[in-house]
Amino acid sequence: ALGHWKHGGIVGVFGYGGGVIGRYCDQPETFPGVAAFHTMRVNQPSGKYYTTKFLKDLMDIWELRGSGLTNFHGATGDIVLLGTTTPQLEEVFYDLTHKMDTDLGGSGSNLRTPSCCLGTSRCEFACFDTQAICHHMTNFYQDELHRPAFPYKFKFKFDGCSNCCVASIARSDLSFIGTWRDDIRIDQEAVKAYVGGEIPPNAGAHAGRDWGPFDIQKEVIDICPTNCMRYENGKLEINTKECTRCMHCINVMP
Ligand code: HEM
Ligand code: HEM
Ligand code: SF4
Ligand code: SF4
Repeated sequence: ALGHWKHGGIVGVFGYGGGVIGRYCDQPETFPGVAAFHTMRVNQPSGKYYTTKFLKDLMDIWELRGSGLTNFHGATGDIVLLGTTTPQLEEVFYDLTHKMDTDLGGSGSNLRTPSCCLGTSRCEFACFDTQAICHHMTNFYQDELHRPAFPYKFKFKFDGCSNCCVASIARSDLSFIGTWRDDIRIDQEAVKAYVGGEIPPNAGAHAGRDWGPFDIQKEVIDICPTNCMRYENGKLEINTKECTRCMHCINVMP
């Protein structure tokens, strides 16, 4: 089927050079129902929070004016609305901007829709407010987002820490990753409690199976990528200069 689709093309909405990816079938006579099947990318909110009403209203528009099929969210971000015809593009765009208070995202050689992890809104590991900077950069770079002027696509992504939940390293050109300014801190009493089994490792995740008693040497010290940790006589030491702030020890013993 792929061989019968043309990707890209010149459809779009007035004033924008991106956000709509035109797709045409090369056998419109045989398959009139999918002669055109354009994709619309819709800017997702920072942290991807929605109200049920927003989702319902969005799907009402898309069932009326498009295929009703979505990709939520695209691997690279955005609410991806799959499949509509050229006359419906302006109609959907009008509803998105006037009724839904949202906007198209990026596509082609422009700034792509910036995206972020949910950051301080729910995650205690967040070292900065990812949602705030994502929102700010989206507004600041509106022109670059909607009017392709680059030789190739360009992406910002914002991760609150090096766990990289939004995959900023793998999936963006300019990746923002939160870290701490001071030395990594150790609560020796808590470490003892992890070793003694009073606090479950990994915040209790993966607890559905019996993995045996927690082994700090095997599960933390030996896996530290820079080998900068030592556990001796009930005391954990970290050579801060060598720590690359990878988050592993913090994930296991939050
Ligand atoms: C009806 C046919 C098609 C559908 C439904 C479709 C669907 C999609 C979707 C949903 C994405 C975005 C994925 C995401 O952001 O997670 C995407 C991206 C992409 N597709 Fe397709 N596709 C179609 C045809 C094609 C064809 C024919 C080609 C190439 C010959 C193609 C090449 C690509 C490329 C290169 C991207 C990445 C674009 C970018 O981010 O710059 N697609 N497609
Ligand atoms: C050196 C060659 C290539 C580079 C550098 C490249 C780069 C990329 C990048 C950066 C993305 C976006 C990924 C993301 O945001 O998560 C992407 C997506 C995609 N690329 Fe490529 N690509 C290459 C070759 C190809 C080829 C040869 C094909 C198809 C024959 C292809 C098809 C796609 C498709 C379908 C997607 C959308 C996947 C998705 O987001 O779900 N790419 N590519
Ligand atoms: S990247 Fe870090 S701060 Fe953001 S959600 Fe993931 S663990 Fe939390
Ligand atoms: S954050 Fe990573 S590099 Fe730093 S001490 Fe912990 S495991 Fe080692």
